[in-house]
Amino acid sequence: MEHKISTEIFQKAEKYIPGGVNSPVRAFKSVNRKAPIFACKGKGARIWDEDGNEYIDYICSWGPLILGHNPENVIKGVREAIEMGSSFGLPTKMEVELAELITKCCPSIEKVRLTTSGTEATMSAVRLARAYTGRNKILKFEGCYHGHSDSLLVKSGSGLLTDGYQDSNGITEGVLKDTMTVPFGDLEAVKKVLETKEIACLIMEPVPANMGMISPDVEFLKAMREICTSTGTILIFDEVISGFRLALGGAQEYFGITPDMTTLGKIIGGGYPVGAFGGKVEIMDLVAPVGRVYHAGTLSGNPVSVRAGYETVSYLYNNRETLYKELSEKTQYLVSNIRELAKKHGVPVCVNSIGSLFTIFFTDRPEVNNLEDALSSNTENFAIYFNTMLENGIVCPPSQFEAHFVSMAHTKEDMDKTLEIIEKAFIAIGEKNSGK
Ligand SMILES: Cc1ncc(COP(=O)(O)O)c(C=O)c1O
Repeated sequence: MEHKISTEIFQKAEKYIPGGVNSPVRAFKSVNRKAPIFACKGKGARIWDEDGNEYIDYICSWGPLILGHNPENVIKGVREAIEMGSSFGLPTKMEVELAELITKCCPSIEKVRLTTSGTEATMSAVRLARAYTGRNKILKFEGCYHGHSDSLLVKSGSGLLTDGYQDSNGITEGVLKDTMTVPFGDLEAVKKVLETKEIACLIMEPVPANMGMISPDVEFLKAMREICTSTGTILIFDEVISGFRLALGGAQEYFGITPDMTTLGKIIGGGYPVGAFGGKVEIMDLVAPVGRVYHAGTLSGNPVSVRAGYETVSYLYNNRETLYKELSEKTQYLVSNIRELAKKHGVPVCVNSIGSLFTIFFTDRPEVNNLEDALSSNTENFAIYFNTMLENGIVCPPSQFEAHFVSMAHTKEDMDKTLEIIEKAFIAIGEKNSGK
Protein backbone atom coordinates (compact mmCIF):
# COMPACT_ATOMS: atom_id res chain seq x y z
CA MET A 1 0.00 0.00 0.00
CA GLU A 2 1.38 3.40 -1.00
CA HIS A 3 1.23 6.39 1.36
CA LYS A 4 3.26 8.79 -0.75
CA ILE A 5 0.71 11.60 -0.91
CA SER A 6 -0.15 11.40 2.80
CA THR A 7 3.55 11.54 3.62
CA GLU A 8 4.03 14.61 1.43
CA ILE A 9 1.06 16.38 3.00
CA PHE A 10 2.42 15.56 6.44
CA GLN A 11 5.80 17.06 5.58
CA LYS A 12 4.02 20.27 4.68
CA ALA A 13 1.75 20.00 7.73
CA GLU A 14 4.73 19.82 10.08
CA LYS A 15 5.82 23.19 8.76
CA TYR A 16 2.58 24.94 9.63
CA ILE A 17 0.90 22.92 12.39
CA PRO A 18 2.66 21.73 15.59
CA GLY A 19 3.45 18.07 15.02
CA GLY A 20 1.52 18.31 11.76
CA VAL A 21 -1.83 17.52 13.39
CA ASN A 22 -4.63 19.26 15.24
CA SER A 23 -5.01 16.55 17.88
CA PRO A 24 -2.00 14.52 19.07
CA VAL A 25 -3.06 10.87 18.55
CA ARG A 26 -3.61 11.59 14.87
CA ALA A 27 0.17 11.76 14.46
CA PHE A 28 0.62 7.93 14.55
CA LYS A 29 3.84 8.48 16.54
CA SER A 30 3.23 5.72 19.06
CA VAL A 31 2.77 3.12 16.33
CA ASN A 32 6.20 3.86 14.88
CA ARG A 33 5.04 5.62 11.73
CA LYS A 34 6.69 8.69 10.30
CA ALA A 35 3.40 10.06 9.00
CA PRO A 36 -0.31 9.51 9.52
CA ILE A 37 -2.69 8.79 6.68
CA PHE A 38 -4.67 11.84 5.57
CA ALA A 39 -8.36 10.98 5.24
CA CYS A 40 -10.42 12.53 2.47
CA LYS A 41 -13.69 10.61 2.29
CA GLY A 42 -15.90 8.34 4.37
CA LYS A 43 -18.99 6.30 3.62
CA GLY A 44 -20.55 3.65 5.83
CA ALA A 45 -17.83 1.66 7.58
CA ARG A 46 -15.16 2.78 5.11
CA ILE A 47 -12.77 5.67 4.65
CA TRP A 48 -10.39 6.61 1.85
CA ASP A 49 -7.06 8.41 2.17
CA GLU A 50 -5.41 10.96 -0.11
CA ASP A 51 -3.48 8.16 -1.87
CA GLY A 52 -6.79 6.53 -2.82
CA ASN A 53 -6.43 3.64 -0.35
CA GLU A 54 -9.65 2.22 1.08
CA TYR A 55 -9.97 1.09 4.71
CA ILE A 56 -12.53 -0.44 7.04
CA ASP A 57 -12.62 2.09 9.86
CA TYR A 58 -12.64 1.35 13.61
CA ILE A 59 -11.82 4.92 14.69
CA CYS A 60 -15.19 6.23 13.53
CA SER A 61 -14.08 9.79 14.35
CA TRP A 62 -13.38 8.58 17.95
CA GLY A 63 -16.99 7.77 18.63
CA PRO A 64 -19.49 10.13 17.02
CA LEU A 65 -20.16 7.92 13.99
CA ILE A 66 -22.31 5.21 15.55
CA LEU A 67 -24.25 5.02 12.25
CA GLY A 68 -21.07 4.99 10.16
CA HIS A 69 -19.76 7.73 7.89
CA ASN A 70 -22.21 10.07 6.20
CA PRO A 71 -25.53 8.26 6.71
CA GLU A 72 -28.23 9.51 4.33
CA ASN A 73 -30.53 10.95 7.02
CA VAL A 74 -27.68 13.02 8.49
CA ILE A 75 -26.53 14.25 5.06
CA LYS A 76 -30.07 15.31 4.22
CA GLY A 77 -30.58 17.12 7.53
CA VAL A 78 -27.21 18.87 7.35
CA ARG A 79 -27.86 19.99 3.76
CA GLU A 80 -31.18 21.50 4.82
CA ALA A 81 -29.55 23.24 7.79
CA ILE A 82 -26.71 24.65 5.69
CA GLU A 83 -29.18 26.05 3.18
CA MET A 84 -30.84 28.01 5.98
CA GLY A 85 -27.66 29.62 7.31
CA SER A 86 -24.48 28.76 9.18
CA SER A 87 -25.16 30.33 12.58
CA PHE A 88 -27.08 33.32 13.87
CA GLY A 89 -25.99 34.27 17.38
CA LEU A 90 -29.67 33.80 18.17
CA PRO A 91 -31.41 30.68 19.44
CA THR A 92 -32.86 28.26 16.90
CA LYS A 93 -35.78 25.86 17.23
CA MET A 94 -33.68 22.77 16.55
CA GLU A 95 -31.60 23.40 19.72
CA VAL A 96 -34.79 23.03 21.73
CA GLU A 97 -35.78 19.89 19.84
CA LEU A 98 -32.38 18.31 20.51
CA ALA A 99 -32.48 19.32 24.19
CA GLU A 100 -35.92 17.77 24.56
CA LEU A 101 -34.79 14.57 22.83
CA ILE A 102 -31.72 14.29 25.06
CA THR A 103 -33.79 14.67 28.22
CA LYS A 104 -36.31 12.11 26.93
CA CYS A 105 -33.55 9.54 26.28
CA CYS A 106 -31.61 10.26 29.43
CA PRO A 107 -34.06 11.09 32.25
CA SER A 108 -31.42 12.14 34.84
CA ILE A 109 -30.81 15.13 32.54
CA GLU A 110 -33.68 17.44 33.43
CA LYS A 111 -32.09 20.43 31.72
CA VAL A 112 -29.20 20.54 29.31
CA ARG A 113 -26.86 23.21 27.93
CA LEU A 114 -25.14 22.67 24.58
CA THR A 115 -21.46 23.46 24.04
CA THR A 116 -19.09 23.09 21.09
CA SER A 117 -16.97 20.24 22.44
CA GLY A 118 -16.77 17.61 25.16
CA THR A 119 -13.96 19.59 26.75
CA GLU A 120 -16.21 22.58 27.26
CA ALA A 121 -18.94 20.34 28.63
CA THR A 122 -16.76 18.78 31.34
CA MET A 123 -15.07 22.10 32.15
CA SER A 124 -18.45 23.78 32.67
CA ALA A 125 -19.88 20.84 34.59
CA VAL A 126 -16.99 21.03 37.06
CA ARG A 127 -17.44 24.78 37.46
CA LEU A 128 -21.12 24.24 38.13
CA ALA A 129 -20.45 21.52 40.71
CA ARG A 130 -18.05 23.86 42.49
CA ALA A 131 -20.62 26.64 42.55
CA TYR A 132 -23.40 24.32 43.75
CA THR A 133 -21.40 22.77 46.58
CA GLY A 134 -19.22 25.75 47.49
CA ARG A 135 -16.22 23.37 47.47
CA ASN A 136 -13.03 23.75 45.43
CA LYS A 137 -11.45 20.34 45.07
CA ILE A 138 -12.50 17.67 42.59
CA LEU A 139 -11.79 13.96 42.23
CA LYS A 140 -11.08 12.01 39.04
CA PHE A 141 -9.65 8.60 38.22
CA GLU A 142 -6.13 7.94 36.97
CA GLY A 143 -6.11 7.25 33.23
CA CYS A 144 -9.54 8.76 32.59
CA TYR A 145 -9.70 11.62 30.09
CA HIS A 146 -12.22 14.41 30.33
CA GLY A 147 -10.95 16.78 27.67
CA HIS A 148 -8.17 19.33 27.87
CA SER A 149 -9.28 21.95 30.38
CA ASP A 150 -6.62 22.69 33.02
CA SER A 151 -8.19 21.08 36.06
CA LEU A 152 -8.91 17.81 34.24
CA LEU A 153 -5.49 17.28 32.66
CA VAL A 154 -4.18 15.49 35.71
CA LYS A 155 -3.20 11.78 35.54
CA SER A 156 -4.98 11.88 32.24
CA GLY A 157 -5.63 9.20 29.64
CA SER A 158 -5.89 9.39 25.84
CA GLY A 159 -3.14 11.23 23.93
CA LEU A 160 -1.11 12.11 27.02
CA LEU A 161 -0.95 8.50 28.09
CA THR A 162 -0.12 7.44 24.54
CA ASP A 163 2.79 9.89 24.46
CA GLY A 164 4.05 8.67 27.83
CA TYR A 165 3.04 11.44 30.24
CA GLN A 166 -0.15 12.21 32.13
CA ASP A 167 0.02 15.85 33.22
CA SER A 168 0.36 18.81 30.88
CA ASN A 169 2.89 21.58 31.34
CA GLY A 170 1.45 25.05 31.63
CA ILE A 171 -1.02 24.35 34.43
CA THR A 172 -0.59 26.28 37.67
CA GLU A 173 0.24 24.50 40.93
CA GLY A 174 -2.94 25.94 42.43
CA VAL A 175 -5.09 24.23 39.81
CA LEU A 176 -3.16 20.96 40.07
CA LYS A 177 -3.55 20.74 43.83
CA ASP A 178 -7.32 21.04 43.57
CA THR A 179 -7.60 17.90 41.41
CA MET A 180 -7.27 14.69 43.40
CA THR A 181 -6.83 11.37 41.63
CA VAL A 182 -7.17 7.72 42.66
CA PRO A 183 -6.93 4.43 40.74
CA PHE A 184 -10.11 3.32 38.98
CA GLY A 185 -11.87 0.65 41.02
CA ASP A 186 -10.19 1.54 44.34
CA LEU A 187 -13.18 1.96 46.64
CA GLU A 188 -11.18 2.62 49.79
CA ALA A 189 -9.15 5.36 48.09
CA VAL A 190 -12.34 7.06 46.87
CA LYS A 191 -13.88 6.87 50.35
CA LYS A 192 -10.83 8.39 51.96
CA VAL A 193 -10.90 11.41 49.66
CA LEU A 194 -14.66 11.98 49.60
CA GLU A 195 -15.12 11.58 53.34
CA THR A 196 -13.13 14.78 53.85
CA LYS A 197 -16.28 16.47 52.50
CA GLU A 198 -14.07 18.93 50.66
CA ILE A 199 -14.75 17.57 47.19
CA ALA A 200 -17.18 19.34 44.88
CA CYS A 201 -17.53 16.48 42.41
CA LEU A 202 -16.38 13.07 41.39
CA ILE A 203 -16.12 13.16 37.61
CA MET A 204 -15.81 9.74 36.01
CA GLU A 205 -16.16 7.92 32.75
CA PRO A 206 -18.58 5.21 33.92
CA VAL A 207 -16.92 3.02 31.30
CA PRO A 208 -13.33 4.25 31.04
CA ALA A 209 -12.32 4.25 27.40
CA ASN A 210 -9.26 6.49 27.34
CA MET A 211 -6.69 4.08 28.81
CA GLY A 212 -8.03 1.47 26.48
CA MET A 213 -11.50 0.29 27.43
CA ILE A 214 -12.17 -0.93 30.96
CA SER A 215 -15.31 -2.86 31.98
CA PRO A 216 -16.43 -1.40 35.28
CA ASP A 217 -17.75 -3.51 38.14
CA VAL A 218 -21.37 -2.45 38.60
CA GLU A 219 -20.96 -2.75 42.38
CA PHE A 220 -18.16 -0.19 42.19
CA LEU A 221 -20.38 2.20 40.22
CA LYS A 222 -23.18 1.75 42.77
CA ALA A 223 -20.74 2.48 45.57
CA MET A 224 -19.70 5.71 43.80
CA ARG A 225 -23.35 6.79 43.78
CA GLU A 226 -23.74 5.99 47.48
CA ILE A 227 -20.56 7.69 48.66
CA CYS A 228 -21.29 10.80 46.61
CA THR A 229 -24.78 11.01 48.12
CA SER A 230 -23.58 10.50 51.68
CA THR A 231 -20.76 13.06 51.38
CA GLY A 232 -22.67 15.74 49.43
CA THR A 233 -20.41 15.28 46.39
CA ILE A 234 -21.83 15.81 42.91
CA LEU A 235 -21.49 12.66 40.82
CA ILE A 236 -20.72 13.58 37.21
CA PHE A 237 -20.86 10.81 34.65
CA ASP A 238 -18.72 11.87 31.71
CA GLU A 239 -20.63 10.09 28.96
CA VAL A 240 -18.94 11.87 26.07
CA ILE A 241 -18.09 8.39 24.72
CA SER A 242 -20.64 6.12 26.42
CA GLY A 243 -23.65 8.43 25.96
CA PHE A 244 -26.06 7.03 23.34
CA ARG A 245 -23.49 4.29 22.65
CA LEU A 246 -23.98 1.69 25.38
CA ALA A 247 -27.72 2.30 25.41
CA LEU A 248 -29.99 5.14 24.40
CA GLY A 249 -29.62 6.49 27.94
CA GLY A 250 -25.88 5.76 28.01
CA ALA A 251 -23.98 3.92 30.75
CA GLN A 252 -26.37 5.26 33.36
CA GLU A 253 -29.24 3.36 31.73
CA TYR A 254 -27.06 0.32 31.03
CA PHE A 255 -26.02 0.00 34.69
CA GLY A 256 -29.12 1.54 36.28
CA ILE A 257 -27.25 4.27 38.15
CA THR A 258 -28.37 7.89 38.26
CA PRO A 259 -25.67 10.57 38.37
CA ASP A 260 -26.36 14.16 39.42
CA MET A 261 -24.86 15.53 36.23
CA THR A 262 -23.90 14.14 32.84
CA THR A 263 -21.59 15.37 30.13
CA LEU A 264 -22.12 14.41 26.50
CA GLY A 265 -20.49 15.02 23.12
CA LYS A 266 -19.59 12.97 20.05
CA ILE A 267 -22.80 11.10 19.07
CA ILE A 268 -25.09 14.04 19.89
CA GLY A 269 -23.31 16.00 17.14
CA GLY A 270 -23.44 13.21 14.56
CA GLY A 271 -19.83 13.95 13.55
CA TYR A 272 -20.08 17.74 13.84
CA PRO A 273 -18.67 19.82 16.75
CA VAL A 274 -20.83 19.61 19.85
CA GLY A 275 -20.94 18.84 23.55
CA ALA A 276 -23.47 19.14 26.35
CA PHE A 277 -23.76 19.18 30.11
CA GLY A 278 -26.95 18.57 31.99
CA GLY A 279 -28.54 17.27 35.14
CA LYS A 280 -30.91 18.18 37.91
CA VAL A 281 -32.84 21.42 37.47
CA GLU A 282 -31.70 22.78 40.83
CA ILE A 283 -28.09 22.49 39.67
CA MET A 284 -28.60 23.54 36.04
CA ASP A 285 -30.53 26.65 37.00
CA LEU A 286 -27.34 28.07 38.47
CA VAL A 287 -26.10 28.54 34.90
CA ALA A 288 -26.25 32.07 33.43
CA PRO A 289 -28.51 33.82 32.59
CA VAL A 290 -30.65 32.26 35.37
CA GLY A 291 -27.75 31.98 37.81
CA ARG A 292 -24.21 33.27 38.01
CA VAL A 293 -22.17 30.32 36.74
CA TYR A 294 -20.98 31.58 33.40
CA HIS A 295 -21.10 29.43 30.32
CA ALA A 296 -21.34 30.78 26.78
CA GLY A 297 -20.19 30.12 23.22
CA THR A 298 -20.36 31.92 19.89
CA LEU A 299 -21.11 28.60 18.19
CA SER A 300 -22.73 26.71 21.12
CA GLY A 301 -25.69 24.85 19.70
CA ASN A 302 -24.56 25.56 16.14
CA PRO A 303 -27.50 24.86 13.80
CA VAL A 304 -25.60 22.47 11.52
CA SER A 305 -24.16 20.42 14.40
CA VAL A 306 -27.47 20.35 16.18
CA ARG A 307 -29.29 19.13 13.09
CA ALA A 308 -26.71 16.38 12.54
CA GLY A 309 -27.06 15.41 16.20
CA TYR A 310 -30.83 15.49 16.06
CA GLU A 311 -30.92 13.21 13.01
CA THR A 312 -28.48 10.79 14.62
CA VAL A 313 -30.19 10.64 18.01
CA SER A 314 -33.67 10.39 16.43
CA TYR A 315 -32.47 7.41 14.42
CA LEU A 316 -31.14 5.79 17.59
CA TYR A 317 -34.40 6.53 19.40
CA ASN A 318 -36.56 5.13 16.60
CA ASN A 319 -34.49 1.96 16.33
CA ARG A 320 -33.68 1.51 20.03
CA GLU A 321 -35.46 -1.86 20.34
CA THR A 322 -33.00 -3.60 18.02
CA LEU A 323 -30.08 -1.30 17.36
CA TYR A 324 -28.12 -1.66 20.60
CA LYS A 325 -28.52 -5.42 20.60
CA GLU A 326 -27.27 -5.57 17.02
CA LEU A 327 -24.24 -3.38 17.77
CA SER A 328 -23.37 -5.48 20.76
CA GLU A 329 -23.73 -8.75 18.83
CA LYS A 330 -21.45 -7.47 16.08
CA THR A 331 -18.83 -6.50 18.62
CA GLN A 332 -19.10 -9.83 20.42
CA TYR A 333 -18.62 -11.63 17.11
CA LEU A 334 -15.35 -9.77 16.61
CA VAL A 335 -14.20 -10.08 20.20
CA SER A 336 -14.87 -13.80 20.66
CA ASN A 337 -13.07 -14.59 17.40
CA ILE A 338 -10.14 -12.33 18.33
CA ARG A 339 -9.75 -14.23 21.60
CA GLU A 340 -9.77 -17.55 19.70
CA LEU A 341 -7.20 -16.31 17.19
CA ALA A 342 -4.93 -15.03 19.95
CA LYS A 343 -5.10 -18.43 21.66
CA LYS A 344 -4.42 -20.24 18.37
CA HIS A 345 -1.28 -18.17 17.72
CA GLY A 346 -0.09 -17.95 21.32
CA VAL A 347 -0.31 -14.14 21.48
CA PRO A 348 -0.95 -12.91 25.01
CA VAL A 349 -3.92 -10.52 24.90
CA CYS A 350 -6.72 -9.40 27.13
CA VAL A 351 -9.69 -8.23 25.08
CA ASN A 352 -12.05 -5.90 26.96
CA SER A 353 -15.41 -5.06 25.48
CA ILE A 354 -18.81 -3.65 26.27
CA GLY A 355 -21.57 -2.62 23.86
CA SER A 356 -19.85 -1.48 20.68
CA LEU A 357 -16.47 -0.68 22.24
CA PHE A 358 -13.45 -2.94 22.54
CA THR A 359 -9.71 -2.82 23.18
CA ILE A 360 -7.15 -5.54 22.55
CA PHE A 361 -4.58 -5.14 25.32
CA PHE A 362 -1.32 -6.87 24.39
CA THR A 363 -0.63 -8.03 27.93
CA ASP A 364 -0.32 -11.35 29.71
CA ARG A 365 -2.46 -10.10 32.58
CA PRO A 366 -5.74 -12.04 32.62
CA GLU A 367 -7.68 -8.85 33.36
CA VAL A 368 -7.19 -5.16 32.66
CA ASN A 369 -9.14 -3.18 35.23
CA ASN A 370 -7.19 0.02 35.73
CA LEU A 371 -4.31 2.15 34.51
CA GLU A 372 -1.62 0.00 36.07
CA ASP A 373 -2.96 -3.08 34.26
CA ALA A 374 -3.25 -1.13 30.99
CA LEU A 375 0.35 0.05 31.29
CA SER A 376 1.54 -3.56 31.42
CA SER A 377 0.72 -3.80 27.69
CA ASN A 378 3.42 -4.44 25.15
CA THR A 379 3.12 -1.39 22.91
CA GLU A 380 5.56 -2.84 20.38
CA ASN A 381 3.16 -5.73 19.81
CA PHE A 382 0.36 -3.21 19.50
CA ALA A 383 2.35 -1.32 16.86
CA ILE A 384 2.80 -4.52 14.82
CA TYR A 385 -0.93 -5.15 15.11
CA PHE A 386 -1.77 -1.59 14.05
CA ASN A 387 0.62 -1.55 11.10
CA THR A 388 -0.42 -4.97 9.80
CA MET A 389 -4.02 -3.85 9.94
CA LEU A 390 -3.32 -0.54 8.21
CA GLU A 391 -1.26 -2.05 5.42
CA ASN A 392 -4.09 -4.50 4.76
CA GLY A 393 -6.89 -1.96 4.64
CA ILE A 394 -8.13 -1.72 8.23
CA VAL A 395 -7.67 1.44 10.24
CA CYS A 396 -7.64 1.04 14.03
CA PRO A 397 -7.02 3.63 16.76
CA PRO A 398 -3.29 4.40 16.56
CA SER A 399 -2.72 3.83 20.26
CA GLN A 400 -2.85 0.92 22.72
CA PHE A 401 -4.70 3.22 25.11
CA GLU A 402 -7.84 3.87 23.11
CA ALA A 403 -10.99 1.93 22.18
CA HIS A 404 -12.07 0.50 18.82
CA PHE A 405 -15.53 1.72 17.78
CA VAL A 406 -17.99 -0.52 15.94
CA SER A 407 -20.79 1.17 13.99
CA MET A 408 -24.12 0.11 12.51
CA ALA A 409 -22.45 0.29 9.11
CA HIS A 410 -19.97 -2.54 9.79
CA THR A 411 -21.15 -5.66 7.97
CA LYS A 412 -20.42 -9.33 8.57
CA GLU A 413 -18.12 -9.23 5.51
CA ASP A 414 -16.24 -6.26 6.99
CA MET A 415 -15.79 -8.12 10.24
CA ASP A 416 -14.68 -11.34 8.55
CA LYS A 417 -12.10 -9.39 6.56
CA THR A 418 -11.02 -7.70 9.83
CA LEU A 419 -10.56 -11.07 11.53
CA GLU A 420 -8.57 -12.39 8.58
CA ILE A 421 -6.12 -9.49 8.94
CA ILE A 422 -6.03 -9.76 12.72
CA GLU A 423 -4.85 -13.34 12.23
CA LYS A 424 -2.05 -12.03 9.99
CA ALA A 425 -1.13 -9.51 12.69
CA PHE A 426 -1.03 -12.19 15.38
CA ILE A 427 1.18 -14.36 13.17
CA ALA A 428 3.54 -11.39 12.65
CA ILE A 429 3.67 -10.76 16.41
CA GLY A 430 4.36 -14.45 17.06
CA GLU A 431 7.19 -14.42 14.51
CA LYS A 432 8.75 -11.31 16.01
CA ASN A 433 8.56 -12.70 19.52
CA SER A 434 10.14 -16.02 18.49
CA GLY A 435 12.96 -14.07 16.81
CA LYS A 436 12.10 -15.18 13.24
C1 LIG B 1 -14.75 10.76 28.05
C2 LIG B 1 -14.37 12.00 27.33
N1 LIG B 1 -14.66 13.19 27.87
C3 LIG B 1 -14.37 14.35 27.24
C4 LIG B 1 -13.74 14.34 26.02
C5 LIG B 1 -13.42 15.64 25.32
O1 LIG B 1 -14.24 15.81 24.22
P1 LIG B 1 -13.76 16.74 22.99
O2 LIG B 1 -12.64 16.02 22.33
O3 LIG B 1 -15.00 16.88 22.16
O4 LIG B 1 -13.33 18.03 23.58
C6 LIG B 1 -13.42 13.13 25.42
C7 LIG B 1 -12.74 13.08 24.11
O5 LIG B 1 -12.37 12.07 23.59
C8 LIG B 1 -13.73 11.93 26.09
O6 LIG B 1 -13.43 10.73 25.58
